[in-house]
Amino acid sequence: MSVKPGLEGVVAAETKISHVDGERGRLIYRGHRAEDLARTRSLEEVAFLLWNGVLPDSGERETIRREWASARVLPGYLKDLIAAIPREVEMTDVIRTAVSALGSASFEGPPTREQAIRIAAVLPTIIAFRRHHLAGSEPPEARSDLSHVAHYLYLLRGEVPSPAHVRALETYFVLTAEHGMNASTFAARVVTSTRSDLISAIVAAIGALKGPLHGGAPAGVESMLDEIGAEERIEPWIRKRLERNERLMGFGHRIYKTEDPRAAALREIAVRLAAGEPWFRLAVRVEEEALRLLGEYKPGRRIHTNVEYYAAAVFRAVGLPKELFTPTFICSRIVGWAAHAMEQAESNRLIRPDAVYIGPMPG
Ligand code: ACO
Repeated sequence: MSVKPGLEGVVAAETKISHVDGERGRLIYRGHRAEDLARTRSLEEVAFLLWNGVLPDSGERETIRREWASARVLPGYLKDLIAAIPREVEMTDVIRTAVSALGSASFEGPPTREQAIRIAAVLPTIIAFRRHHLAGSEPPEARSDLSHVAHYLYLLRGEVPSPAHVRALETYFVLTAEHGMNASTFAARVVTSTRSDLISAIVAAIGALKGPLHGGAPAGVESMLDEIGAEERIEPWIRKRLERNERLMGFGHRIYKTEDPRAAALREIAVRLAAGEPWFRLAVRVEEEALRLLGEYKPGRRIHTNVEYYAAAVFRAVGLPKELFTPTFICSRIVGWAAHAMEQAESNRLIRPDAVYIGPMPG
């Protein structure tokens, strides 16, 4: 038996949901380029595509709009639970706990689209309720006339966001809704393969996503830019990290060996929103310098900017604080997790790899 650390190169499933072409830098959702969908489609439409295999027609668009809007309200017991969590607990852990508490008899059995909407639609409400609770303010009343992403911004800010901000965040949501067999999606599939329920699969996936090597990266990008702070500090700061063999957040990817197409699309959005801002000019300079120095310190590794680098810029441009970066990623990636849980359940085989024992044997 040969061991594949990190399961690199191991093919664990056949999927019709998405194709990540790491050599050509392409991301395909059910036959559509993710960047094309991200220009015009809402998260609800893309969820429909990923879950059903086709884009919704106009009648279906209206139905899903109503389904998502009606699942936005937080049950009273969840408000009490969230309010009881100590204030120092991070938002990702609050979300994981709240999603776990959603679990009930109605989530038993194989995962369904209706269950997926119930979890996905309520996530922004969980986040907004927690933030307002910590600030001692009241979250605004849920509305049914806004799209999922517009409603998320509305809940956080208390006012209807501008179309430019909605499109920017919607682009992020669509581009990060799904990405093949990444660590959190694999976790969701492993749980589903035991015939456990969708809530358990999503809770496991949230646990996997929050790690700094996966969904925890954009906050790391923001911290890096804050620490660097000024142009003249860029080169020494990066050199010091690379000399210690530390990772630069927002660079590198297990699959993409060329530019991550999501990073390119988000860069375009960030340029539109923030080109004149000093922090954005710094981000662009840090990227240039990081790529140059990664080439010097890690020759031949083909390390490029990943989605998290410009996700951080888009978040900042639409006014999301750093502590909501990973929570926002959970809100988009839930769509892919649910798609994979459904696909796994449809043609299930228990996921149970092997390990080579290298410990001592009894004498
Ligand atoms: N900074 C510095 N060096 C890096 C980076 C980086 N961001 N990424 C990879 N490398 C180097 C490694 O040090 C290693 O060098 P070595 O061969 O001299 O030891 C080499 O490149 C290969 O790295 P691996 O860790 O084997 O590559 P892997 O495929 O496991 O890495 C990962 C993928 C974990 C994303 C890595 O690039 C990383 O840590 N990036 C920073 C964190 C980050 O941005 N994560 C977000 C990923 S996107 C997402 O999850 C949505």
